[in-house]
This record gives sequence, structure tokens and C-alpha cells, in this order.
Amino acid sequence: MSMSLRQLHPLFVGQVSGIDTGRPLDAAQVAALNHAIDRYAVLVFRDQDLDDERQMAFARNFGDLEIPRSGQAAVRRRLRAEIADISNLDENQAVRGRDDPRRFDQLGNRLWHTDGSFRRVPAALSMLYAHKVPRPGPDGKGETEFADMRAAYDALDDATKAKIDGLVALHDIAWSRAQLGFTELLFNERDVLPAVPQRLVRVHPGSKRKVLYVAAHACEIVGWPVPEGRLLLRELIEHATQREFVYRHEWREGDLVLWDNRATMHRGRSFDEREVRDLRRVTTRDIASTLDQVA
Ligand code: OGA
Ligand code: MN
Repeated sequence: MSMSLRQLHPLFVGQVSGIDTGRPLDAAQVAALNHAIDRYAVLVFRDQDLDDERQMAFARNFGDLEIPRSGQAAVRRRLRAEIADISNLDENQAVRGRDDPRRFDQLGNRLWHTDGSFRRVPAALSMLYAHKVPRPGPDGKGETEFADMRAAYDALDDATKAKIDGLVALHDIAWSRAQLGFTELLFNERDVLPAVPQRLVRVHPGSKRKVLYVAAHACEIVGWPVPEGRLLLRELIEHATQREFVYRHEWREGDLVLWDNRATMHRGRSFDEREVRDLRRVTTRDIASTLDQVA
């Protein structure tokens, strides 16, 4: 069966049929998927059958794997180091309590962000697979929303495009967590993850489109007074997350969603946290810092 695509949003997001992500892919399939990523920025695969090893094997078709923050820290984990545990479960498969610090850290995913922008070499592709999805309730459905940062850039007025041309932002995991009230980082990462500079406007290597590269991690504009930089960053995030740029994914078990962190932002939505939500992410690293890439 050959691969086909159905667009799920007027601007981006393709649903892929004809690919079994749990089996080895040939070079033509990988090339077709890379092409689709450059075009759609988010790919949805329904009814997949993955375990952690198969999910990692699929991701390795696209680059080297990033080790998540908790995988780098000396903490007990439910899953192997390469898998970002996007669940509300602890090491004993019990739902985390409301006051669990690991839960607080995960709540950072509810802020609009792009993965790993706080690393010198940020994340490229994230692949999130749904093992268990909560039932919808008054607290929500636990959807994930995505914003098309290419379209958001294109829609800026010319004066703003001129103003932000060439600017560099500092990204810091401590800042996204500080916005939720953290005064220190959960995994004592201060020395491991200092604030890093990233271009505010980058050119996507595949599509050659300009992209607004902002996130909840972005805390300053280099060379600007801090409050002025923060206001600009906030305005840009507000602009980029207007409804016309946003796709909302309602999870079904067996969904694999792949997104390009170089072209999108995303955030998780609330749900009844007495229910199990077990999603697991494997992520590829980009090849260089945005400062070392063509602007
Ligand atoms: C992530 C993330 C949001 C969600 O996996 O990187 O931000 O909906 N997830 O769980
Ligand atoms: Mn994320």
C-alpha cells in the first residue's frame, strides 16, 4: 500500500495512511515522510501498534535521539532514558498526586512551547504515541494543540518583520517553569542547562520558509532591556497562537503524532487527572544551534 496524505487543517497537519510506523521503513518511505514533514509540519498516524523499542526505531529514521531532562538526571523513572514520559503515572504505575513535583514540572507542557529550545542544539522532530487516553470530562480531554509558526511569521506586518529581523532570544527552562511558580528546577539542572541563544526568525531547512521561533522558554531578547524583550516575546506568542494558526489534536489510543519543532509550537490541554493519560515521546536532535544555521 502506498503512502497517502489528507490535510486536517487549512494551513498544515497531514494525516498519513499506508505507513506502518512499527515496521522498518525503506529509503523511499523515509524520503516521502521527510517531504511531508516539510510541507505539513505535523503528521498524524492513526491505529499504530508501537512499543518503546519500535517507537525509537521509527524515530531513528530521522536523526539522533535526544535524551529527555529526567533521563539525564539521577532520578527513578518509569521508562528507559530515551523515552520522554508524557504520562501522569509514577514508577509504580500509580497516578501522580496533585502535589507531586514531577506533575508540576509536566504542567510546563501546558504553556505554548517548542521542545528543547532551551538546549544549545534544540530538538528537531518529536514523536508522541498514545498508549492510554483519558475519558473526556468537565476538566477537558487532554488534547494537544499545535500552531503553525511559518504561517504566523508570514502574517506579521512588514514593520514587525523588519523589527525582529536578526534578533536573538535567550531560552531557559528555568523561565518556563518560573512562570508556573518554580523557584528552582526540579532536576537541579542549573549547571547542565544554562540559558542559550536562539535566532528569533529561522529558515526551515526543508521548506526554506521563515519561521517564528519562540516558546515559553524564551525569556529575553539579547541586547534589549529585559521587560521590553519579554513584552515582544509575549506579543509574538499571542500573535502566533490565534485560532487560525492552531490545530487541536483529540487523541485516540494508537495515535502517533509527529511534529517539527522547527516549524511549530504546541501545548497540552487539561483533563481529569484521576484518569490515566499515558503518552510517550521520542525526539530527534537538530544538527546544530539555530545560530549556526543559515538565517
Ligand atoms: C510534549 C508535550 C503536550 C501534551 O510531549 O512535548 O508538550 O499534550 N506534550 O502532552
Ligand atoms: Mn512539548
